[in-house]
Amino acid sequence: MRAAVIERHGTAPAIGERPPPAGAEAHALVSTTAAPVTPLDVLCATGTSYFGPPPLPYVPGVQGVGVVQDARGVPAGTRVWFPTTAGMAPGDGSMAQQVLLPETELVALPDGVEDTLVAALGLSAIAAWAALIWKAGLRPGEKVLVLGGGSVVGQVAIQAARLSGAGRVVAASRSSRAQERARTCGADAVVALRDDDEPDELAGRLTNACAGNADVVIDPLCGVPATAALQLLAPGGRFVNLGSSAGDSATFTSATLRSRSARLLGYTNNEISTARKGEALRALLQHAAAGRLRVDHEVVPLDRLPGAWERQANGLAERRIVVDLTAQDGNGGPGGP
Ligand SMILES: NC(=O)c1ccc[n+]([C@@H]2O[C@H](COP(=O)([O-])OP(=O)(O)OC[C@H]3O[C@@H](n4cnc5c(N)ncnc54)[C@H](OP(=O)(O)O)[C@@H]3O)[C@@H](O)[C@H]2O)c1
Repeated sequence: MRAAVIERHGTAPAIGERPPPAGAEAHALVSTTAAPVTPLDVLCATGTSYFGPPPLPYVPGVQGVGVVQDARGVPAGTRVWFPTTAGMAPGDGSMAQQVLLPETELVALPDGVEDTLVAALGLSAIAAWAALIWKAGLRPGEKVLVLGGGSVVGQVAIQAARLSGAGRVVAASRSSRAQERARTCGADAVVALRDDDEPDELAGRLTNACAGNADVVIDPLCGVPATAALQLLAPGGRFVNLGSSAGDSATFTSATLRSRSARLLGYTNNEISTARKGEALRALLQHAAAGRLRVDHEVVPLDRLPGAWERQANGLAERRIVVDLTAQDGNGGPGGP
């Protein structure tokens, strides 16, 4: 079968032939149709993630979409989304024409959303939904501030906040492309982030855009944007960190947190089961099927993955890249919106 293979830590995968996976008890054989290239895939392949360096060679891909070929408890032909532990534990991931998975790791998909969009949403969308709806417990009418509003996490958080009845949704994003995406997703205001932002000055601009405090902050960035956003939490506010794209640390004053009885929370997809991830994904796909939720993405065939991977690794990917494992070279095309 055709597969992407990481042969050295920190390098893009090579495309080649790999033996098809052999059967195992309570495992399902799935023909993969689509898999996204995410920051987690690239980080794990460098060998510097907190999971440690993965044994080589291995097929990357921490998630994918496909069709069940053979399984005991799931009918053949069932369309599924699945997470994998590729790069985090020994074993292969989704960037191959076939993958073998525990049946408990399959999430059956409803009709109405194309495989490449499901893949583009995937774990980042699940994290956004879980952080906003379950962790922060967003209530109708509340004000939401989404840092990194142009990321997949950010795009989904903005749309999910809108769909859940948030009163005002403000995004903060770095590049003009990310700012535009945040607007397209329905942000009422978008604050520009700059690499030389000072926390207090940025906090002022965020406060203006929020017209006061924020009840919920969704933070995939940490760093200076988080330090600024922590200053404008409303009484009873919830701040959920789920990433560190802008820095490893942020600071807050005891007075701010204490006087407002605010809650500082962390979220990782690793804390919820695949069944629970499936719940979040199905809620998101209902909105996507009705045309209410999208995420900017581009689709590339497997043969063009090495170049696409380099773009993701070097911060040059303009949107989520999705590998179409059913396409021949040259058949990939841009996705929406
Ligand atoms: N906790 C979890 O379970 C979980 C799940 C999924 C993702 N995450 C994390 O959430 C974060 C976003 O993930 P994603 O999949 O949504 O990523 P993504 O779509 O690849 O987007 C990354 C975004 O980060 C922004 N960014 C990078 N460095 C920045 C900086 N210094 N200042 C401001 N913005 C910066 C980029 O903005 P520009 O476009 O302006 O360059 C880009 O829009 C990552 O850290 C990821 O690891 C966590």
